[in-house]
Amino acid sequence: MVMNSCILYVSLTGNTRKFAENISNELKIPAVFDITTTEPTAVKDFDMIILGTPVHGFNPSKESVAFIKRLPNGEGKQAILFCTYRLWKGRVFGKLKGEMKKRGYSTILCVSAKAKEFTDNDFVEPIQKIVKTLTK
Ligand SMILES: Cc1cc2nc3c(=O)[nH]c(=O)nc-3n(C[C@H](O)[C@H](O)[C@H](O)COP(=O)(O)O)c2cc1C
Repeated sequence: MVMNSCILYVSLTGNTRKFAENISNELKIPAVFDITTTEPTAVKDFDMIILGTPVHGFNPSKESVAFIKRLPNGEGKQAILFCTYRLWKGRVFGKLKGEMKKRGYSTILCVSAKAKEFTDNDFVEPIQKIVKTLTK
């Protein structure tokens, strides 16, 4: 069963947004927020956060980290993290997981998509992993 989930993303050139939209469509999760135009309190009624960022300098985007730092307490809640990148993802998930943990969230899965130019096909495999995790 898919829990009460929302999808949060930041995307400068559209790749991570496409990933977020594919997750939304495949998992039938209607709540999708661009974190640059959303207040962190918007997530307070969701049990599961699915949060995505592009990789910038082997790290999560500054916007994603700043947003997580302002999240309401997520004690007992869960997170799934996703990213898009071109070559090397570096410490993106280590950093994001640590920030989520500080807010009380336990991260149960991290998935990524790597490409220069993305098509929907690039998101199929990582989204299957999310489906498997959320339906087991
Ligand atoms: C400032 C900047 C830094 C980047 N640093 C990395 C990096 O360290 N490793 C990598 O694989 N890709 C890097 N990229 C490529 C992006 O992660 C990749 O194109 C991503 O899919 C962009 O997502 P978006 O379209 O959602 O913004 C960088 C891109 C930019 C603009």
